Amino acid sequence: MELLDKIEVDARARNIPVILRPTREYIENLIHEIQPKSILEIGMAVGYSASVMLSGSNAQITCLEASKPNIEEAKANFEALGLSDRVNIIEGDCMKTLPKLNEKFDFIFLDGPKGKYLDMIPLIVPLLNRNGVWVSDNVLFRGMVSGKNQITEHRFIHTVGILREFLDKLKQNKALDTTILDIGDGLCVVRFKEGKNE
Ligand SMILES: C[S@@+](CC[C@H](N)C(=O)[O-])C[C@H]1O[C@@H](n2cnc3c(N)ncnc32)[C@H](O)[C@@H]1O
Repeated sequence: MELLDKIEVDARARNIPVILRPTREYIENLIHEIQPKSILEIGMAVGYSASVMLSGSNAQITCLEASKPNIEEAKANFEALGLSDRVNIIEGDCMKTLPKLNEKFDFIFLDGPKGKYLDMIPLIVPLLNRNGVWVSDNVLFRGMVSGKNQITEHRFIHTVGILREFLDKLKQNKALDTTILDIGDGLCVVRFKEGKNE
């Protein structure tokens, strides 16, 4: 088994919610197509999706992550994959670390706290390059956001509400081109409309 696949299997066995296979395939294709030079990931966990993105490009990645154990494990994984030189990990709550970033990125992958997605819109949009692509994971949240599936647990009501507002707000933003894809747990792909990010 390839090391990247082993990292995926090991993470999933411990209920670390790494990206699903269809999501990986979509992101691999997108990364291959746009060949970003700079990537921002919010929610790195043990570095699986970051490694997928790095393996398909020559990009440098900045990863925001709050969990110390996850960061230690991610560092070991990047080292084992020979990717450490291309990774900058910023430890802490992304709501505090995001506003401190002062560069723009060609590709942004949001896979952090779902309850904060809405609040993160004004923090993320200024970080996206003119031709950049921003992908957010889990936006359909097991079919509960679209209403295809009923909300199964009381604790999901808040998250589903936030994700619905998040998608509505993005779709209402006239500067952005927003597409929702029923891939994996739901992906939202955002780009600037032509001439709308000056
Ligand atoms: C779904 S996992 C990320 C999985 C990863 N993208 C992958 O597919 O390999 C979400 C991660 O976000 C982190 N996280 C949750 N809340 C956070 C916060 N407020 N700031 C930074 N990271 C956070 C969690 O510790 C967890 O590692």
